[in-house]
Amino acid sequence: MRYQAVIFDLDGVICQTDRYHYLAWKRIADEIGVYFDEVINNRLRGISRTESLEIILESYDGELSQAEKNYYTDKKNAIYLDLLKEMSPEDLGPEVRDTLDRIRAKGILEAIGSSSRNAKFILRQVGLENYFDAVSDGSNITNSKPDPEVFLKASEYLGIDPRGCLVVEDARSGLEAALVANMDCAAIGDGTKYNLANYNLKRFSDLLLIV
Ligand code: G6P
Ligand code: MG
Repeated sequence: MRYQAVIFDLDGVICQTDRYHYLAWKRIADEIGVYFDEVINNRLRGISRTESLEIILESYDGELSQAEKNYYTDKKNAIYLDLLKEMSPEDLGPEVRDTLDRIRAKGILEAIGSSSRNAKFILRQVGLENYFDAVSDGSNITNSKPDPEVFLKASEYLGIDPRGCLVVEDARSGLEAALVANMDCAAIGDGTKYNLANYNLKRFSDLLLIV
């Protein structure tokens, strides 16, 4: 067995919440009056909420107080949570569920490694609340990706050496985090553009060709 564990990013890998992040940030950017598009949104993948706002404000001609920044991050999250309420197990797609089950059947452990503070809520929405062997997310880390903390915590929770873990990521920041953590990584979606991963996946089930 090449890997003892697979650590999955959540947004943009297990489920397509990245679209909801985009829609919520777009409303905030419009309210502030700054330009925002999918290219900027891609830079927010794997990055914490507060750091995301700083990236959005790069083109803002002015200075926001800490209270104003808190207002915008809170409001973004409220809009985002409202969108997440519509999610159900149907948003998972049969391929993802089937692939997760087949990896598990090989005796490989599975964990989540996500910068999101909403990870547990999202897992509940898509019916994976108690599925993973470990969940490492925004609630147990001090530094978000590209810092390796979230993946190192996941491997620690699983009791598996980092070199025995494969990370699955759609974010540049996440691929960089995996490299620093000494973990192999498989890129999917937007992540395949960066030439940083050990493997590029065309589809989620391609993981079965690797593990
Ligand atoms: C994931 C997403 C990021 C998001 C971060 C924090 O890593 O890819 O775009 O900013 O989680 O999410 P949260 O749900 O805590 O706002
Ligand atoms: Mg992601």
